[in-house]
Amino acid sequence: MPAKDDLKPKKETCSTPIADFLDEYAGKQVVRVHMPGHKGSASGSFASDLDITEISGADSLYEADGIILESENNASVLFGTKHSFYVTEGSSQAIKAMCLLAIRLSQKQAGTVTKKPVIIAGRNAHRSFVSAAELLGFEVEWLVGENRASLMECRVTPEMLEKKLCEAGFYDGRFLAGIYITSPDYLGNMADIKALAEVAHKHGILLLVDNAHGSYLKFLKKDRHPVTSGADLVCDSAHKTLPVLTGGAYLHVSKRLKKDFDMTEIRQALLRFGSTSPSYLILRSLDMANAFLSGCAEEGYFDKCCEKISEIKSICSEKGLVFSGDEPMKLCVNLAASGLKEEKSTAAGNIFRNMEIEPEFADRDYLILMFSPLNKPEDFEKVKQVLFMLAEKTGKVSQTKSKGVCADDCIRDFSMPVKKHEPSEIILLPRVKVNVNDALGLVAADVPVSCPPAILPVIPGEVVDENIIKILKYYGIKEIYVEKSFEQI
Ligand SMILES: Cc1ncc(COP(=O)(O)O)c(C=O)c1O
Repeated sequence: MPAKDDLKPKKETCSTPIADFLDEYAGKQVVRVHMPGHKGSASGSFASDLDITEISGADSLYEADGIILESENNASVLFGTKHSFYVTEGSSQAIKAMCLLAIRLSQKQAGTVTKKPVIIAGRNAHRSFVSAAELLGFEVEWLVGENRASLMECRVTPEMLEKKLCEAGFYDGRFLAGIYITSPDYLGNMADIKALAEVAHKHGILLLVDNAHGSYLKFLKKDRHPVTSGADLVCDSAHKTLPVLTGGAYLHVSKRLKKDFDMTEIRQALLRFGSTSPSYLILRSLDMANAFLSGCAEEGYFDKCCEKISEIKSICSEKGLVFSGDEPMKLCVNLAASGLKEEKSTAAGNIFRNMEIEPEFADRDYLILMFSPLNKPEDFEKVKQVLFMLAEKTGKVSQTKSKGVCADDCIRDFSMPVKKHEPSEIILLPRVKVNVNDALGLVAADVPVSCPPAILPVIPGEVVDENIIKILKYYGIKEIYVEKSFEQI
């Protein structure tokens, strides 16, 4: 038996850069306005003595009938669902499972196996939805909203959806497995889920919502969660806004789905895209979150946090900052519209970092700050002061120069690229990496896009056009994988 000291990492023989970074970061007094929602201070220990596997009595996530099922039942009551399944690999895992389930459920209803499944989706879908299309072989019909100020937004209206559903020939050779909406989006824009659900249900179609950013919406005094508004299958990244460890998420199944609900089938769908060793630390944090959330609506924790943000927004708006989105627990400064568009994409982010505040995201168009009730009162004050500093810069910008300009031309000019293959048809084809300048007319096979926000300007199987090249360059993407031509093979 090795002595306990022998098992200590020997830093002199091997570097530990990740541990070093985390230890140093944890030791600093940095204001965490980025995920996860526990802000480094959730109750309870996350120590390794709690990190176990499926030992006797610990239940098993994908065959849960013991403590995990009991805990999920608690979550289901809190979220008002038929069942809320725990997920340990984020919404990225839940989104793929959700698409598979939608296909299975619609297949049962349509009684067909010969037709191809298709899902209608807002074009600001996270890349895990595109991976789902690649892996599951469904077709995608994209909806592109008007007045797009960013690739991250896409305002899908009930009218747009109705029009798509009534398009002549839409159903030829295929069956519609669902409608997929991202709400809230990364910039805090929220879709009218109630109205979209009404359209979907009128046509007998399931509504799937990527609510990765909106777990907490359930616990506002005015419940704005998509399940409450009528969505059928919803994924939440609990870790983004609740005191839950990174990776912790839910797949919610609405009470509407009573008839076709098959718990084993849903667990199998999740298992298909996840590790067979789900983390008990994450499961524990989801379990502990129930205890936190059970008193939340009454205590108004989230409402109080949102009120503070709303105050900051209104004072800073008066000082010239323009905010985007109506999601109440996020601050999203539209830098371009505030007249603060800088050539250097890191400029606004660095103002915050220099003051020991780490934002969730900052590029040259947007600065995103994500809060939770676990932020300390002084965090809000400090953020407000730095926003004032930013607002001062807007006064120095000539009103005629760039104020009110919301997005670069290439983003506003985005139109759907021509589709040559479905994503699933290209995933196994030979590919080659080229400079984006040489990609005109070639078929995209993959896009190295950073995460967050992980929204793809061009989807595998689509032809790269001139404007797409401009968008790729705008976001600093230098290379792209494209389909290998016959001559290259
Ligand atoms: C809109 C949206 N959907 C899905 C995801 C994936 O969530 P997760 O990180 O929990 O896998 C993200 C991640 O940032 C996201 O922004």
